[in-house]
Amino acid sequence: ITVRVPRDSAALAVGADAVAATLQAECARRGLALNLVRNGSRGLFWLEPLVEVSTSAGRVAYGPVTPEDVPGLLDAGLLQGAPHALGHGPTEQIPYLAKQERLCFARMGLTDPLSLADYEAHEGWAGLRRALAMPDAAVVDEVLQSGLRGRGGAAFPTGIKWKTVMNTPSAQKYIVCNADEGDSGTYSDRMTMEGDPYMLIEGMTIAALAVGATRGYVYVRSEYPHAIATLNDAIARAEAAGFLGSDVLGSGRAFHLQVRKAAGAYVCGEETALLESLEGKRGIVRAKPPLPAIEGLFGQPTVINNVISFASVPLILARGAAHYRDYGVGRSMGTLPIQLAGNVKRGGLVEKAFGVTLRELLYDFGGGTASGRPIKAVQVGGPLGTYVPESKWDVPLDYEAYAAFGGVVGHGGIVVHDDTADMAKLARYAMEFCAIESCGKCTPCRIGSTRGVEVIDRITANVNRPAQVKLLRDLCDTMLAGSLCAMGGMTPYPVLSALDHYPEDFGLATPDRA
Ligand code: NAI
Ligand code: SF4
Repeated sequence: ITVRVPRDSAALAVGADAVAATLQAECARRGLALNLVRNGSRGLFWLEPLVEVSTSAGRVAYGPVTPEDVPGLLDAGLLQGAPHALGHGPTEQIPYLAKQERLCFARMGLTDPLSLADYEAHEGWAGLRRALAMPDAAVVDEVLQSGLRGRGGAAFPTGIKWKTVMNTPSAQKYIVCNADEGDSGTYSDRMTMEGDPYMLIEGMTIAALAVGATRGYVYVRSEYPHAIATLNDAIARAEAAGFLGSDVLGSGRAFHLQVRKAAGAYVCGEETALLESLEGKRGIVRAKPPLPAIEGLFGQPTVINNVISFASVPLILARGAAHYRDYGVGRSMGTLPIQLAGNVKRGGLVEKAFGVTLRELLYDFGGGTASGRPIKAVQVGGPLGTYVPESKWDVPLDYEAYAAFGGVVGHGGIVVHDDTADMAKLARYAMEFCAIESCGKCTPCRIGSTRGVEVIDRITANVNRPAQVKLLRDLCDTMLAGSLCAMGGMTPYPVLSALDHYPEDFGLATPDRA
């Protein structure tokens, strides 16, 4: 009997290893044959550790399982998929999963992350094989036609970026994957690296061959030790099997891929600071132009994309651009792996086509707050994202529709707060975060963020409040317009949205735009 217990960090954090060990020990004691597979997580985090049993009717789910639950579960017929208080029936029919549109995350939790045979059996390498049979320009065009846009947050068309690199002549080009995933409440990159690493490797290899790059690096944040270990293992196995190295699948073309551990700074997720760090220097933002696509790593043309951007490519190549483009709305095509976090009852990964609303995500998927209190504020797009007021919760999730009201979709992170949240404190936190994480290169961010904390303190202490509110708005204007990168340039988003939508938390009767 095959039983799966996830090896994803989120499952490990709530005791998946102990559950797996107890299952093994208890089955051995009872003389029961057990084939234990450590799969990736399905992304239903509130049910982790989620134990799945293979039955003739498919996989049956139990969770959250503790080691103490194991003997009782076995007594009740766990290995036969029998009903139990912790049982949820067939995994695929759990509404949270059944209502998703999983393209990128289709294999997540289904496969053994490091098994090449499992990957191959689930459409793995089909995209790379098709790409190898196509002219390079046609591969880039397929990505362009799919409508895929940068999933790190900026949503720049991936195909255009690749085309720029392809058309820039150079003896050496690079592929860099930004796996610094620094946004609060985000984990889709980590899940991909831990739960389906070959998908990322395949996407980067397709990119490399298409633009003529022979070397690639995955820059992974140091806080992701499991992702780093899994990726290193996966790269070694893919190389031994001929999917990477000096002769990719007998094509006579080379692609060498390595993992680099980041040093732990939020700003190193900004692409040029990341490149500096990768070159062994301090992570300071470079002025653009030149774009990394023209002069990137070591001054050479470089494709730098987020994990999910690369991970979306194998399917696009395997099934064709139209299949991907058919999902989504407007210019936001395809799907987005959305991450529900913070004070939410059912936190986890929800992959949906663009067009889903925040209200559906918060209630139909998330089930409201974990505390049971009313939702007060929702930050979308990371620590530099806007607090989206309830009046916008029915706006379809779409890069343009969000931009139209001053929101950001970003990397798809959603952090929920209940009515005990103090929005003035959260605004102060945004400024403080910027002061701590600023690379120091430009004045509006380096000095502005420190002054911002002081001004918010004076507002909440009611020291000359009206003048200080005006000063805060002026400061935010300067940071928005005068910062060199998104760090200083977007910090005003959470600050101003908190001030505009929750003036009472700042001691104001109205947003006070004076
Ligand atoms: P950007 O708008 O400057 O650039 C977007 C991308 O397009 C860059 O890779 C740039 O080099 C490329 N590009 C632009 N024009 C091009 C052209 N003509 N040819 C080829 N490439 C071209 O945005 P930036 O500063 O890279 O990213 C800001 C975003 O990052 C924010 O929207 C924020 O949501 C997101 N972010 C994500 C985080 C995460 O954890 N994933 C953390 C912090 C911010
Ligand atoms: Fe550095 Fe901040 Fe300026 Fe970005 S905005 S370049 S992080 S000082």
